[in-house]
Order: sequence, then C-alpha cells, then structure tokens
Amino acid sequence: MVDAVSTEQTARDHTAGMSAPPELPELVLRALRMSLQRGYVQASRTETGRLLATLAATRTGTIAECGTGCGVGAAWLRSGAPKATRVVTAEVDPGLAHGVMDMFADDDIDVIHADWRTLAAHAPFSLIFMDAASARDWPREEVTALLDEGGMLVLDDFVPCASWPPLRGGRVDDLRVAWLSDDRFTSVDVMVAEDTSVLIAVRR
Ligand SMILES: C[S@@+](CC[C@H](N)C(=O)[O-])C[C@H]1O[C@@H](n2cnc3c(N)ncnc32)[C@H](O)[C@@H]1O
Repeated sequence: MVDAVSTEQTARDHTAGMSAPPELPELVLRALRMSLQRGYVQASRTETGRLLATLAATRTGTIAECGTGCGVGAAWLRSGAPKATRVVTAEVDPGLAHGVMDMFADDDIDVIHADWRTLAAHAPFSLIFMDAASARDWPREEVTALLDEGGMLVLDDFVPCASWPPLRGGRVDDLRVAWLSDDRFTSVDVMVAEDTSVLIAVRR
C-alpha cells in the first residue's frame, strides 16, 4: 500500500547527501504517489525537481514539458513558476496522460495526450523541459525554434562526465556537445547528483 509516508521516504532517499528541506510541495507528493502506485520509475528525481522549480520561478509566458510521465516534473515546474505563467505538458501514453489530467484537474497545469511535437501549437516557450533520451529523437533546430528569446532548454538525465568532450558509453556524447557548443546559447552542464546531470541552455 502506497501512502504519503513512503512517498516522503522515497523523496528523502533521493536527496540523501544534499542539503535541502525535507518537505515537498503537495503537488509533487501527489505525483510521486502516482509514480509509486503505477511502478513508474522514470520520474524526475528530487534534485532535478528543485532545480526545475527554481528555474521556473524566473519564467513568464509559457513553460512546456515533453513527456509528462506521472507528472513529477510538471508538479515541480508549477510549484516554482509565478501564478500567471502557464505550464503545459504532453504525454503520448494514454494511461499516463489521462491519469495526470485527472490528478491535476484543479491545478492549473495543462496536460495534453499527444506527441510532444503538438506542443508547437502553444509556442513560443520561456522554458522547455525534456529528458535526454527524448531530446535525441527531436531535431535541435525544431526545439530551438520553439524557444522564446531568453528562453531556456532544460535537459535531464545525463550521466556526469568530467572530461571534454563529454562521453556516453565510451563514445562522444554528440547531443551534449552540440548544445554546449552552440553560439546561440549560453549553456552549462550541472551535476545535480552523483549519477545525474542536467544541461541548461539559455537562448541569447
Ligand atoms: C523520462 S519520462 C518523463 C519524466 C517526467 N518528465 C518527469 O519529470 O517525471 C519520458 C516520458 O516521455 C513519454 N514520451 C515518449 N515519447 C513521447 C512523445 N513522442 N511525445 C510525448 N511523450 C513521449 C514517455 O511515455 C515517458 O512517460
């Protein structure tokens, strides 16, 4: 039986080794509970979530998430963003999309059951959040075109790498190199946990 205590415990396990208040936003707790109930293991970790909320706090206009999962990333984004900033998220899996839609029905998060490319109809975005695996399938120029001037792209789920160029499975990580070397962006690869880094690229 999944309950709030085990949800909090899971979140605390994720933040072991970092200094952060243990309390989580109620929206995030709800999404973590759904992840546990469905055995969904791809949810954003809490370290990434805190970063997302902080970045979202600087954003106006519309924030987009590609791949909702059980709504953890969207919950962090909504928790940090100013009230007037819109949060829209797309998920291709019908069960996940409709589950999150129901869960966030009263929470000012627009959940769309669709391929993330349909998000283009809601652009431009002040922030786009997606995981690295998804980003490998989406041409960089298409993503860039959806970003507002000053807009930021946040790519989750990289493995930290101290060398240049960054490696992935023993080979050069072309995706990371491309974003970190693109002159149209100011970018950084931030290690949020021992085994995870997040790339942030801000369009000049
Ligand atoms: C890493 S998970 C997302 C985790 C989520 N962003 C979070 O913060 O917890 C990737 C999700 O993208 C969804 N997905 C994969 N391809 C997609 C597509 N073309 N359009 C929309 N969603 C997609 C998958 O079903 C999966 O739920």
